[in-house]
Amino acid sequence: MTDWTSDANEALRLSLVRSTADKKSLAEGESYESFHPSFTYPIFGEDEKLYGYNDLDIDLRFASGSLVQYLNVKYSEKLGSSSTVDDVVGTLSGFIPPGYYTDEQQFLAFVEEDAATFKPSGQLIHSYTRPVPSSANDKGKGAADVHNLDSESEDAVVFEVYHTTWNTPDFKKYHRRMQLFILLYIEGGSYINEDEDPWEFVLLFEKRKRRGTTNVATYHFVGYSSLYPFYFFPEKTRLRLSQFVILPPYQHHGHGSDLYEAIYHYILSQPNIAELTVEDPAEAFEDLRDRNDLKMLLSHERFMEEGFGGTAVSYGGGRVGGIGRAGKSGRGGKETTSVAGKMGPPSDKAWLEKWRRDLKIAGRQFQRLTEMLILLRLD
Ligand code: ACO
Repeated sequence: MTDWTSDANEALRLSLVRSTADKKSLAEGESYESFHPSFTYPIFGEDEKLYGYNDLDIDLRFASGSLVQYLNVKYSEKLGSSSTVDDVVGTLSGFIPPGYYTDEQQFLAFVEEDAATFKPSGQLIHSYTRPVPSSANDKGKGAADVHNLDSESEDAVVFEVYHTTWNTPDFKKYHRRMQLFILLYIEGGSYINEDEDPWEFVLLFEKRKRRGTTNVATYHFVGYSSLYPFYFFPEKTRLRLSQFVILPPYQHHGHGSDLYEAIYHYILSQPNIAELTVEDPAEAFEDLRDRNDLKMLLSHERFMEEGFGGTAVSYGGGRVGGIGRAGKSGRGGKETTSVAGKMGPPSDKAWLEKWRRDLKIAGRQFQRLTEMLILLRLD
């Protein structure tokens, strides 16, 4: 017997849909379809349950480039016209922009067109590459295809980071489609106000060359971050990273680190930005930030030379572990000061402040990082 109750996180199924030709370019097992949200409470309520259906399947798809949506709700049975039955489409429609597709064939036809025409808007600020997943080069590769392959660009998938503001052409519309991911993946995440002018964004796209072509590249959304500039006395801004998400099919491949690094280098390159801060970071993000900040400091020859007697610490970019929580657990303070005291510059406030300002790292984070370096050095 059924109780007519569905888990909303299970029932909601998300897909980033590529064109038929682009799907053929994917490696065995490489999939961007049918993944689930971490949270649906901002949409469907605190208990994340939906009432009134059997075998509920909420099929929400996004064209992988433009993120134009398709929504279809299926179930094997629905309770009669009881007022307690949840209105799934009505509720979800309140969180996505109107005009989404409901006809599957029309949506799939749109995806084909989108693959040919979609290009990210904004300013390209960074790019990096990853090797093409190996079987993507081999899958279904017939003799005819081998002739068409452009070996140079088959070796790598390019990832591009774009900077946008509300004034970037078409960006407001794009943001209305992508902001749903904030509710679905960031605990306590909420929509930001489109009328608050200063928001800035960085968006990450996969630029994938279509197998068997020389220059057909298509763009696929990977994740993004929103940043808010605050006034910083006397004439600069402090950029606060507010939201940051990498979609599940792309997680655990280092893209979060690359996006964070791109943001950091963008900030270093902007003379009017004094420092980067982070709003209420989730633990996974705090780890990512610590790992990348430490990696940056450890590879900074002059900083390490002046403060820590050279790059004596080897750090492979793995987990920081217990040391990563040094600042939070209340370590440091007296203990760190005395340790640092033996080491010279790290206990010199003026030296620390000069580097902190040059590196544009917020005070609390910089203090934690130098404590971690001291502890790593002692290991
Ligand atoms: N193969 C396997 N593992 C890898 C690889 C690889 N090639 N590269 C990195 N990793 C590991 C890292 O070591 C790290 O391991 P750990 O979790 O054990 O520490 C892990 O993968 C994550 O590192 P990245 O891959 O660089 O980060 P990712 O792209 O997965 O993004 C993030 C991390 C942003 C937290 C992502 O999981 C996410 O979007 N989560 C949901 C939203 C969220 O929580 N956002 C932060 C909110 S806080 C805020 O917005 C301010």
